[in-house]
Amino acid sequence: MEKNIAVLPGDGIGGEVTAEAVKVLDAVADRWGHAFAYQYALVGWAAIDNTGSALPEETVETCKAADAIFFGAVGDPKRDPTLPPAERPEPVALLTLRKGLYANLRPAVIEPDLADLSALRPEAVSSGVDLLIVRELTGGLYYGRPKERRGDAAVDTMAYSVEEVDRIARVGFEAARKRRKKLTSVDKANILACSQLWREVVVEVSKEYPDVELDHMYVDNCAMQLVRNPGQFDTIVTENTFGDILSDEASMLVGSLGMLPSASIGDGSQPAFYEPIHGSAPDIAGLGIANPIAAIRSAAMLLRYSFGLNEEADAVDNAVSSVLREGLRTADIMQSGKRRVSTSEMGDAVVEKIRKG
Ligand code: IPM
Ligand code: MN
Repeated sequence: MEKNIAVLPGDGIGGEVTAEAVKVLDAVADRWGHAFAYQYALVGWAAIDNTGSALPEETVETCKAADAIFFGAVGDPKRDPTLPPAERPEPVALLTLRKGLYANLRPAVIEPDLADLSALRPEAVSSGVDLLIVRELTGGLYYGRPKERRGDAAVDTMAYSVEEVDRIARVGFEAARKRRKKLTSVDKANILACSQLWREVVVEVSKEYPDVELDHMYVDNCAMQLVRNPGQFDTIVTENTFGDILSDEASMLVGSLGMLPSASIGDGSQPAFYEPIHGSAPDIAGLGIANPIAAIRSAAMLLRYSFGLNEEADAVDNAVSSVLREGLRTADIMQSGKRRVSTSEMGDAVVEKIRKG
């Protein structure tokens, strides 16, 4: 298979973790005889310093021409405030690159060996955690208009159409069908009109998925249930803002943001977008201590969802698990008696597993 991948390392630890993900993709290409070509492009502060824009036109073109987009991280809390909000890297780069990619998949899985890193007590995670948040990514409060400051007031708009809910509901049901066949739709239908529409449409779509068990949960209750008994969840489908918040909460079940990948996919007419969910973490940038696993797992999602290379993606995920089982740990997941390794040592260990098969 021959594919072009746009690679946007970005700011902070983005470059370090992206380098490890690319090493892993190369190892996959070697072992299975694929050819992956990488087109590197500027984004974030690196792009502002070079071109004046956090998302230069050239980068947009590179992304459009690619088969998939791999993104590191953008933003620098020291420099961001020097720009007006609408010109800062996060909104400019992320919200633009995500356009059309309406489904954001955020898995949160506790590796058995890492259960005691969870922010929850061991009893709360004893039945294991393996959930997938399907977050609607291109609607709701993020994009709704009007959205503006009005003197000493401000307005944001939450709006959803039947079509927007229908297509994300289908992603949720399809994902649940490939997992444990349980879908929890999260809304605030006791208060929000958007959520009432959401629930109506999800129920309608559910008729096409009789094999998937559907339940509905209010978002406040879901936030509570996630820390009370996360093992009850399989697949969660929810609107943009709720998904943003619940996925950060879910990351703490696992214990480190450095472990969680994500994929943003659309209807297939444009390249999908893969990124670790951690940000640019400028406080640890350049120290070689960042955890590359979220980026490496994002690369596995790229192989799976954009290229349909399931065997290769499984091999990457298994390589990560086995390296962890052998006791290698970056600083954020260090435990007593384990071997502390750098960003690149972790990447090398995963690569070696993949090469050995
Ligand atoms: C995320 C981030 C972004 C979001 C920000 C940086 C715009 O928090 O990917 O979850 O809110 O979607
Ligand atoms: Mn977020």
